[in-house]
Amino acid sequence: MRFLWYNLGRPERGLDMAIELYATAGSVEKDLRNCVVIVVDVLRATSVMTTAVQNGVRSIIPVSEVEEAVDMARQLGNQRVLLCGEREAKPIPEFHLSNSPLEYTADMVSGRVMVMTTTNGTRAILRARDAKHLLIGSLLNASAVAQAARSCGENIAIICAGTYGKFSLDDILCAGAIISRILEIDGKQYLDDLARTALTLYDSYKDDLRAPLAGCAHVQRLKALGMEKDIDFCLQEDIMDVVPCYLDGVIRNAYA
Ligand code: MLT
Repeated sequence: MRFLWYNLGRPERGLDMAIELYATAGSVEKDLRNCVVIVVDVLRATSVMTTAVQNGVRSIIPVSEVEEAVDMARQLGNQRVLLCGEREAKPIPEFHLSNSPLEYTADMVSGRVMVMTTTNGTRAILRARDAKHLLIGSLLNASAVAQAARSCGENIAIICAGTYGKFSLDDILCAGAIISRILEIDGKQYLDDLARTALTLYDSYKDDLRAPLAGCAHVQRLKALGMEKDIDFCLQEDIMDVVPCYLDGVIRNAYA
């Protein structure tokens, strides 16, 4: 195992762990300080972050508002900063990159600092910032994030970003994919009802994730904007092995 950016700890053998799933960030009332949290926003914020980290970005600073992002970039004050994100899934005027993972190539992001704001994903991350360990999950790194979360030895809360405060099917399927990988590592886990639902859904559709997503509101919205290639990209499983982690305001790869 490579050097960890911070110490994820060791699981205690024989201990039953719990996996809880939240359909939206707004539905989390729990104190997260003793949990490892995985935030998921498949379409597209956490897929973008995973891709950027895989392609060598130095760090990602998530912020809630466009103005905050601009101020932060000004404070950082050097030309290596990239302003990134979306509003209503569209590019933000004057920002360097939109919320399309296809833009986050190694040529574009390697060695750079990203300041990122999205409608749902970055806000869900900021909601969970008190977590003991906060990991960024997507289908792209489902196995890697499952392995890292399990190695923390804490109960796991998976928080789906959702879309505009509502449940989003793409996130629930991704949560099911991550849960299924955690169970492959260690089957002794307590799953809450939504975690069980996500796992059943994923198991039913894992051979064709596009099928249940065809009528999904967020998928239709992105398709209407001509972003079909982004959807195809984000639905690939386990093509990346990085685990972006949030610590002290910054996201970096857990495996330095
Ligand atoms: C978000 O974080 O709100 C989403 O990723 C929106 C999008 O797909 O651009």
